[in-house]
Amino acid sequence: MASRPNIVIFNDTHGWHSRQLVDALARYNITAILADLADCTIDLDTKNGLAIPGLNNSLPDAIIVRGIAPGTLEQITLRMDILHTLAELNVPVFNTAKAIEHTVDKARTSLRLHLAGINTPKTWACESINKAHDIAAQQFKQGHTLVLKPLFGCQGKGIEKITSLAELKQQAPIGDAFYLQQYITPLTPNQWQDWRILVIDGKVIASMSRHSKHWITNFAQGADCLAAAINDDMAALAINATKAVNAAYAGVDIIQTQNGDYTVLEVNSVPAWKGLHQATRIDIADQLAQAMARRITPSDITEHAQY
Ligand SMILES: Nc1ncnc2c1ncn2[C@@H]1O[C@H](COP(=O)(O)OP(=O)(O)O)[C@@H](O)[C@H]1O
Ligand SMILES: [Mg+2]
Repeated sequence: MASRPNIVIFNDTHGWHSRQLVDALARYNITAILADLADCTIDLDTKNGLAIPGLNNSLPDAIIVRGIAPGTLEQITLRMDILHTLAELNVPVFNTAKAIEHTVDKARTSLRLHLAGINTPKTWACESINKAHDIAAQQFKQGHTLVLKPLFGCQGKGIEKITSLAELKQQAPIGDAFYLQQYITPLTPNQWQDWRILVIDGKVIASMSRHSKHWITNFAQGADCLAAAINDDMAALAINATKAVNAAYAGVDIIQTQNGDYTVLEVNSVPAWKGLHQATRIDIADQLAQAMARRITPSDITEHAQY
């Protein structure tokens, strides 16, 4: 009998999300190995060129990337080399290095969405401070407010609303990169809301609305999260946005504009799901485990499935 399939969960710290996945994978008779991409070695003295802790130079049946720690350009390059190589060795990687590259950098996501014809707010990204100021001056003249976001931001951290050139001049953007986006004014003054929609393998699995008295509505920033039914337009937008960044699964943030249209704020290819789980009671880890099980060769699944 073949050995039980194993899946590596990559993260730099393994907490609640890893534990949820370990338990869910176990229900499909899949062993989870917890590892950190930073601890892997590129080793041309091995057949596959990769040494992943806990695997004794063999390859896993699949990989799920749950987090990549911040690092130098060189460190991140090595970690992405490992993910790219695993995919080239036909190991299912969930999400792939390509999808992660398309989403970890907000400018890249904006470009992917724009080029795929998917609604997303008008956005500019540049290095030149003069150019950023020119763009902002134009936008303020037209009556728009702007949002300045860190290129690699998450959980609503480091985002600033900018209403004047004087305010922009006080900002020192992280990494000297300006990512400026038109601010979407809430439909009801001072009541902010957006939606987080989780898509797995082309289907909406769970959705919630996030409400706050503050304009940044992330769960991590204390917004109230409620299970929410979404309409077909929102579902299509989330599914298409996920496809546009080549993600197999993603958490898509959608907001409604003054004219009633929906627009994509961002796509997360390594989304947290604690808030979504609490709001909807949907077993998201189980849905991810099922998606992982589908990626393991059919004979493995038939041989090992408990259901
Ligand atoms: N252009 C925008 N207009 C209005 N609100 C925004 C805009 N961009 C971001 N926000 C608010 O800030 C939150 C975080 O922004 P987001 O782009 O999703 O970055 P993060 O990766 O930090 O979650 C959004 O959920 C939304 O509440
Ligand atoms: Mg977000």
